[in-house]
Amino acid sequence: MSHAAPSRVPLAKPVEAVPAGSLRQLRLRAADCRACPLWRDATRTVFGAGPARAAVMLIGEQPGDQEDRRGEPFVGPAGQLLRELLAECGLAVDDVYLTNTVKHFKFRMRGKRRLHQRANAAEQAACRPWLAAELLRLRPRWVVALGAMAAQTLFGDAFRLTRERGRWHALDEHTDALASWHPSAILRMRGEPREHALRELRRDLCAVAARVTGSPARTPSGDTP
Ligand code: URA
Repeated sequence: MSHAAPSRVPLAKPVEAVPAGSLRQLRLRAADCRACPLWRDATRTVFGAGPARAAVMLIGEQPGDQEDRRGEPFVGPAGQLLRELLAECGLAVDDVYLTNTVKHFKFRMRGKRRLHQRANAAEQAACRPWLAAELLRLRPRWVVALGAMAAQTLFGDAFRLTRERGRWHALDEHTDALASWHPSAILRMRGEPREHALRELRRDLCAVAARVTGSPARTPSGDTP
C-alpha cells in the first residue's frame, strides 16, 4: 500500500529534528544515543521491535528491568500481561510493532534491586525524535498509547486517561490512535479497580483487533461490549 507523505510529525509535543533512515538504521543509531543522561546507567537502548509493515503500533512508557537486560520492549511482567491480552483479542504479537516513549531504563538502586523511576520531561523530550522517526517510517494505521506518558506525547499534556481512554483520535490523515491503561499500572492495582482497568484495556485492544480484521470486537468472558 502506498501512502501520501504525512504533512507533519504526528505528535502533540515538539520534536527538534527527526532522524532519517530505515528502521534498521534508526535502531543502530539509537544504540549510541547520548541525548540525555539515561544511557550512562542503562545497559542498552531498547528500541522498538516488530515488522516494519505492521499496521498496529503499541507505545509504552519506558523499558523496565527485564527489557533493559534483554534489549527488547515488553518482555517483563507488564509485557506478559500485554501479550496475553493481545492473544485473547486475536492479535498476533508478531504482527504488532512494540515500542516505548523513552528508550532507556531509568532506575535507582535499593539494595541490589533496580527500582523503576519515571523519565522526566527533559528525558522524554530528548527521546521524542526516535518515536517520531518510528511513526514516520512505519506509518501504522492504528496506534495504541499505553499509559499517560505515551498518551500525552501523542495528544498533549491536557489529555487525561480517566476521561478519554478508549476514544479514537486522528493523529494525521492516515493514522488513528487511542490511549488505554498501561499494563504495569494494572499490575500495581488491587481488587475491583484492577479488574475494571483490566477489562477496559482488554476492550480497547479488542477494538483495535476488530479494526485490523474488520470483524466485530471480541468480548472475552467477563467483559461487556
Ligand atoms: N513498560 C513499558 O512501558 N515498556 C516496556 O517495554 C516494559 C514495561
